[in-house]
Amino acid sequence: MGDARGGSWLSGLGARAAGSMALPLREYVEHGAGAGVTAGEAAAGWGRLRLRPHVLRDVTSVDPTVELLGCSSRVPWGVAPTSLQRAVHPDGELATARASAAAGAVMVVSSNAGSTFDDIAATGVTWWLQVYLPSDRTLAGPLLDRAVAAGATAVVLTVDTPVVATWHPSEALIWDLADPAWTRVNFDPGYDDQPGSEKALDLGPHDIDWLRERTGLPVVVKGVLRGDDARRCVQAGAAGVWVSTHGGRQLDRSLSTAAALPEVRRAVGADAEVYVDGGVRSGLDVVTALAAGADAVFVGRPVLHALVEGEAGVARWHAALLTETVEALRLAGCRTPADTRDLLADDADEGP
Ligand code: FNR
Repeated sequence: MGDARGGSWLSGLGARAAGSMALPLREYVEHGAGAGVTAGEAAAGWGRLRLRPHVLRDVTSVDPTVELLGCSSRVPWGVAPTSLQRAVHPDGELATARASAAAGAVMVVSSNAGSTFDDIAATGVTWWLQVYLPSDRTLAGPLLDRAVAAGATAVVLTVDTPVVATWHPSEALIWDLADPAWTRVNFDPGYDDQPGSEKALDLGPHDIDWLRERTGLPVVVKGVLRGDDARRCVQAGAAGVWVSTHGGRQLDRSLSTAAALPEVRRAVGADAEVYVDGGVRSGLDVVTALAAGADAVFVGRPVLHALVEGEAGVARWHAALLTETVEALRLAGCRTPADTRDLLADDADEGP
């Protein structure tokens, strides 16, 4: 995709989208918490890792398919949960879902989605529900039931948000301007007025087991950056651990996910799947993340940038990432994502 001298369609995506978003929306999408250290270092983290490619291997036929929680995904990436998609494009989550269904990619649907689970499911996409648990866990029941009934195949529990980190927009906060129909359409009316509906400050490993029992679905824990926490998740019954800094939107000065991933993979071994997000912008980033131990990567902001152009934009994004990923796999002498497992160079060989 694109021209080796002039940069690819993917690398120019964010800048092009920025020009099409009103300032409060752009600030909402792009911001990092605090001084923006973690948000700013995410993409560079992948560029610091170094690969040892194989040669003299037949890479005529490359198959990027991966198996995620027992379901086949035609590509080794999925769409990370992001809210306010209907503020980016009127079709919102439905455009993302249609394009992701066509690409054969998993979509993780934010609990703050602006489209109903039924409508998202009707696109045929394989989708997982993302949740934050409230102080009173029983209040999550109706949302979970709706997702299960609509065919979610996994639940992603976001654990890095006991509180929403402060940030300081220069403009009005998009949430104050947002149409209520753009978000929280899958909650009961009046949900937020109920005592106990605020985010839980006391999440623990038992919540993983509770969620699994309550939904009958595999649970993925999103927001893990340490091997010891990853082990606790797996011991509590998690089917997957998702290395994430929430796009640098929670604890600023958290290390990059590229730096955290190898330790988490080592701690989990083959006992659960490991995913990663944060700063993945190119096919080479995808292959680097696979080499560093991820079973799949997830992508947040670039999907929103592509969504400015609706379903066609997200379809083009998937296609461009596939082209780049296949190229990077071939250059690394790999026919499949599993072949990348021995590519990562030792620490001593890593870049500066
Ligand atoms: C997010 N993210 C997020 N995560 C989550 O668990 N639930 C949510 O509702 C949201 N909402 C959200 C909105 C926006 C605008 C952004 C940018 C991010 C975090 C998201 O799932 C993911 O972890 C990061 O976006 C990954 O980093 P990149 O790909 O944006 O660099």
